[in-house]
Amino acid sequence: MTAPALALDGVAVDRAEVPVVHEVTLDAAPGAVTVILGANGAGKTTLMDGIAGLAPVRSGTIRLDGKAIERLAPYKRARAGLGYVEQARTTFRTLTVEQNLVVSQQGDGDLGTVYRLFPELEKRRTLQAGYLSGGEQQMVVLGRALVSAPKVVLIDEMSLGLAPLVVRRLMATVGELAGMGIAVVLIEQFANLALDVGSRAHVLRKGRVVFSGPCGELRGDERRLHRLYFGGPPVSAAEAGGAGAAESGLR
Ligand SMILES: Nc1ncnc2c1ncn2[C@@H]1O[C@H](COP(=O)(O)OP(=O)(O)OP(=O)(O)O)[C@@H](O)[C@H]1O
Ligand SMILES: [Mg+2]
Repeated sequence: MTAPALALDGVAVDRAEVPVVHEVTLDAAPGAVTVILGANGAGKTTLMDGIAGLAPVRSGTIRLDGKAIERLAPYKRARAGLGYVEQARTTFRTLTVEQNLVVSQQGDGDLGTVYRLFPELEKRRTLQAGYLSGGEQQMVVLGRALVSAPKVVLIDEMSLGLAPLVVRRLMATVGELAGMGIAVVLIEQFANLALDVGSRAHVLRKGRVVFSGPCGELRGDERRLHRLYFGGPPVSAAEAGGAGAAESGLR
């Protein structure tokens, strides 16, 4: 197996000094989409914030290309190769599309890659971002995470409020990012769309991993997803042991 680009081991993350995420162990391979699912309030955003340095990691290790990053400032994690598309992140509305991208650029970052993925943005590069449609704005937000040539990109609920057709278009792009060798970590409310593009999935419930396995195991299985999200009798021996079994038996 390829060495993981991102590896979490026993990670706990606090929010306003309250423990929210507990003992999360998972990794993300380069060239693949790793899906994180869970009900509202399960701790998905808190976990992403912990990885990016926007919420404090109480214990555990986070490695980016083998290097521990859990004590680094957010900008140093970004410099080390971590891109983060935050939930409900918006564009700088009065800046042009191109200015939005340039202000996020660092290192080997290349606007050409963004314009190849989103030709509609190249056509509108001199337009103020505030005039773009919701889908195009989300493309700018994604583009801003890409202009730093990241090794890992965390994407938190990019489909919020967008039409299904636009969401499908963005999901296809997520697959292309993985095709470029990036390790993508995808949080998504439309579980089946994410499971279609993903390789492995992890389900969080009350801040703990209750399932880790291939996306194919969950795809189309609404009953099992519901049970994993909200609890209930286990359907397999691996689930019966809770988080511990999920980590040792299903990874
Ligand atoms: N700034 C905060 N201060 C205190 N508690 C918070 C804060 N932000 C989130 N929480 C709490 O942490 C828990 C996890 O929230 P989080 O936003 O990580 O969940 P989520 O899985 O991303 O949910 P959603 O699907 O709604 O985005 C919730 O119980 C929430 O109320
Ligand atoms: Mg969230």
